[in-house]
Amino acid sequence: MGCIEISKTKNIMTYTKMSHGFFSDNVLNIAHRGASYDAPENTMPAFHLAANMGAYGIECDAQLTKDGEVVIFHDVYLNRTSTGTGKIADNTLAELRKLDAGSWKDSRFSHTSIPTLDEVFDEMPTHFLFNIELKSFAIFNQKLEAAVARLIDHHRIQDRVIVSSFNLLSLLKMRRIDPSIKLGLLWSPYVPLFLYDYLIRYVISHEGFHPHWKSVTVEMVKQARRHGRYINVWTCDDSLAMQRLIKMGVASIITNRPNLLREVLYSETK
Ligand code: G3P
Ligand code: MG
Repeated sequence: MGCIEISKTKNIMTYTKMSHGFFSDNVLNIAHRGASYDAPENTMPAFHLAANMGAYGIECDAQLTKDGEVVIFHDVYLNRTSTGTGKIADNTLAELRKLDAGSWKDSRFSHTSIPTLDEVFDEMPTHFLFNIELKSFAIFNQKLEAAVARLIDHHRIQDRVIVSSFNLLSLLKMRRIDPSIKLGLLWSPYVPLFLYDYLIRYVISHEGFHPHWKSVTVEMVKQARRHGRYINVWTCDDSLAMQRLIKMGVASIITNRPNLLREVLYSETK
């Protein structure tokens, strides 16, 4: 396992090398939907800003368009974060590209389009990590997993990707399609943890367990490590909580505010 080399020049933490992918002894700074506190979620400006703020990677939400392209968008419906209406899955990529996915956040971001996963892989720095959350809403006949696996393979970035989902079937499918892709099982705070402890974790092999940050305990982190798994928590924007999670030994913190997490990580390493 490699390591992140951290240099503390100019009082900021930057990485100079990242060879281990998601699994490291350092706590990784992963920007939730990009730097989504400051820029429109799941867009290229939010992803670039995350990189500039010192994030090691991003979490982003993947969905399939009507014509089978993988785009990055959180909701089922277009209206909250774009100028469109209706479902994302009912539109072709060409139709989605005409929408503005930035101005709802701030007029500075008008004319920002919904990105494709291919574009995200192409444009982000070559060391960048990707936590791709599959927003797979259908149980059967979902082609999202195969399309995402194809893109990861095309870009040859298996070592920089973890595919996560709340949907167990989606993860099972992904494991069958490409066993080399690391998987993260997302766990809702509304589902009792004993179901995971006694049942689900035996059903599917997964490298990452992704609970809400408020559900994490020291014992959970230790137990995960004993089983060779890493705890990646979402979505924490509170500096005191970040400090606690770092001390607990989580592998990564997913945050809307990667600049805040960078400061916390820096002060923890002083
Ligand atoms: O991957 C963590 C987090 O993104 C899960 O919830 O709704 O923000 O996609 P959501
Ligand atoms: Mg997500």
